[in-house]
Amino acid sequence: MNILLTGGLGFIGSHTATVLADYGHHVVIIDNLYNSQKETLNSLRSITGKVLPFYEGDVRDLPLLKRILKEEQIECVIHFAGLKSVAQSQTNPLEYFDNNVGGSIALLEAMQAINIKKLIFSSSATVYGAPQYLPYDEAHPLQPINVYGRTKLQVEEILQDLSQSDDAWSIVCLRYFNPIGAHNCGLIGERPQGIPNNLMPYLCQVASGQLPHLNIFGDDYDTKDGTGERDYIHVMDLAEGHAAALALMNRQTGFEAINLGTGNPVSVYELVHAFERSIQRTIPRIVQKRRSGDLPIYYAKVDKASRLLNWRAQRDLQAMCDSSWKYEQKIRAVL
Ligand code: WQD
Repeated sequence: MNILLTGGLGFIGSHTATVLADYGHHVVIIDNLYNSQKETLNSLRSITGKVLPFYEGDVRDLPLLKRILKEEQIECVIHFAGLKSVAQSQTNPLEYFDNNVGGSIALLEAMQAINIKKLIFSSSATVYGAPQYLPYDEAHPLQPINVYGRTKLQVEEILQDLSQSDDAWSIVCLRYFNPIGAHNCGLIGERPQGIPNNLMPYLCQVASGQLPHLNIFGDDYDTKDGTGERDYIHVMDLAEGHAAALALMNRQTGFEAINLGTGNPVSVYELVHAFERSIQRTIPRIVQKRRSGDLPIYYAKVDKASRLLNWRAQRDLQAMCDSSWKYEQKIRAVL
């Protein structure tokens, strides 16, 4: 298929591009480079051996989107483009609603104008909010507790209404848990701008000497060892989940929301210890007070993905840590 990846140079988008190209799809990328690097395109071209047409631009640019969809004869879109920092979303709500919701509406208008009605949407477990039960299944109430999560939920609601208004639409919303890790070649990985908010990129920068120590945000939660527990999933497993979602999208129409996680909650200490096995030394750390907005524990029920996508995460925590560390060493060697 001819597939447009919006935000395709980002962390999840770039890894998904490698899997789709491997499966023989023609992958086209649009990215505004707000939270990604142009050299990722060269890495993707060398990993895949494919040209991968690239357009630098913003999904809110309706004329550009229509031109790409038409000229590249796009058959379906995977929509990754969006802002994703929970902390920033709280201080810049309008920027988040404009980018994440406004950008999605512009994309959908362009698709509708060209009669392209197959979409995979990059959603997030943050749409669930505080757990009323665990693991989260897809029927769990949707009560996001931050602006970022609300932007993702609003797009999901728009997509549901769109598919109810026109049954030609086939839409799959993938709710990601905590993606970490990197492609095993070490050429692409997670590379946030500035000081990382998320645990794994922060750990990598402590290990490579960019940051002095890890701050552990709370060790007094009611969890297995007092630190927060999350469902970390290897980004390559996540990428393969998108390829599986394409097959579902081609088999049915309507709207479907599916969790992409491992179903295994892992604590901060468990992740740190696994990462220390990867780097063969200890990570300096200081226990700090809890980070506001953090939930103690959340993880995915993964039965629906297994049933509808015939997909399950295959890679373990050590593989996630090893691959992240390999990527960090590569970029530090060239930075
Ligand atoms: C994980 C755990 C922290 C950093 C994020 C995004 C969310 C979603 C998933 C996109 C928590 C602890 C962290 C640090 C720490 N992404 N921690 N020290 O908060 O679960 O969610 O990824 O959809 O939008 O916000 O991930 O990696 O920030 O935190 O102790 O320096 O690590 O308290 O328990 P989070 P995270």
